[in-house]
Amino acid sequence: MRLDERVALVTGTGPNIGREIAQTLARAGATVVCNDVDAEAAADCARSIEGAGGQAIPSAGDVGDEAQVATIVQRGIDAYGYVDVLVNNAAITHPKGVLETETADWERVIRVNLTGSFLMSREVARRLVDQGRGGAIVNIASTSGHRGRADALAYCSAKGGVLNMTRAMAMDLVTHGIRVNSVTPTKTGISVGSLESSTERFYAEIPMERLGEPEDQANAVLFLASDASAFCTGVDIRVDGGSLATWGLQPKAMEQFRRAAGA
Ligand SMILES: NC(=O)c1ccc[n+]([C@@H]2O[C@H](COP(=O)([O-])OP(=O)(O)OC[C@H]3O[C@@H](n4cnc5c(N)ncnc54)[C@H](O)[C@@H]3O)[C@@H](O)[C@H]2O)c1
Repeated sequence: MRLDERVALVTGTGPNIGREIAQTLARAGATVVCNDVDAEAAADCARSIEGAGGQAIPSAGDVGDEAQVATIVQRGIDAYGYVDVLVNNAAITHPKGVLETETADWERVIRVNLTGSFLMSREVARRLVDQGRGGAIVNIASTSGHRGRADALAYCSAKGGVLNMTRAMAMDLVTHGIRVNSVTPTKTGISVGSLESSTERFYAEIPMERLGEPEDQANAVLFLASDASAFCTGVDIRVDGGSLATWGLQPKAMEQFRRAAGA
């Protein structure tokens, strides 16, 4: 799967999944525009790609801010002439349920995760339509967008929105040759918004009995960004170790649960 001659803009290129996506697309031949609201994270990602012999620039900015979104995209176009792949990966979370979620926290999470993906997609899609040679948008969803989860109301709601926004945008853009798809990670590397190591993360509910690796997610993004997925639009690839294929605790976790309960 190659992306030679393609320019890919990846949002949220901090050290977990976003950076791995940017590096994977670069290894496949893409030139990468690395975005993050944290300017150092964007610069660091671009440096890591250049250090490995690839081509990249940072483009810092907040994907939830309409004026900044135009600048984020324009920097890529100024540097390379066009952008033809967009990966909406930037996200934040807020660990509260419906009873405790303040309106401002709800709006902040929806603004970055859902509105940010919309704003970036609209900005890039308008350029893609003008360019007239198609393109690909990949949205990063979450198993929390497919299922309810306690203490993550705004995040679950935003990610559910991302999944259906993907299908709706796919229909809006299909006649322009622009494909829009999503990838659904489950627990991968470190938690969203955290810099802590993953070793303490609970994964007994994942049928494959391990956490996702950022590479697992990045490989699915590469497929959806490349011509290998030329006949796919409106698709969601679940990179979740089987989590959404089932429900409840998996056999090993059930055994641990019974043992703990003394049954
Ligand atoms: N890590 C997981 O276990 C997991 C599970 C399911 C889904 N996901 C999804 O995968 C994606 C990446 O997750 P991650 O764990 O790497 O997250 P992360 O928190 O490690 O990285 C997200 C990056 O987005 C940046 N960001 C935050 N707000 C921004 C904004 N307004 N504009 C631009 N950048 C912004 C952050 O600075 C950070 O570098 C997210 O969409 C997340 O919802 C992650």
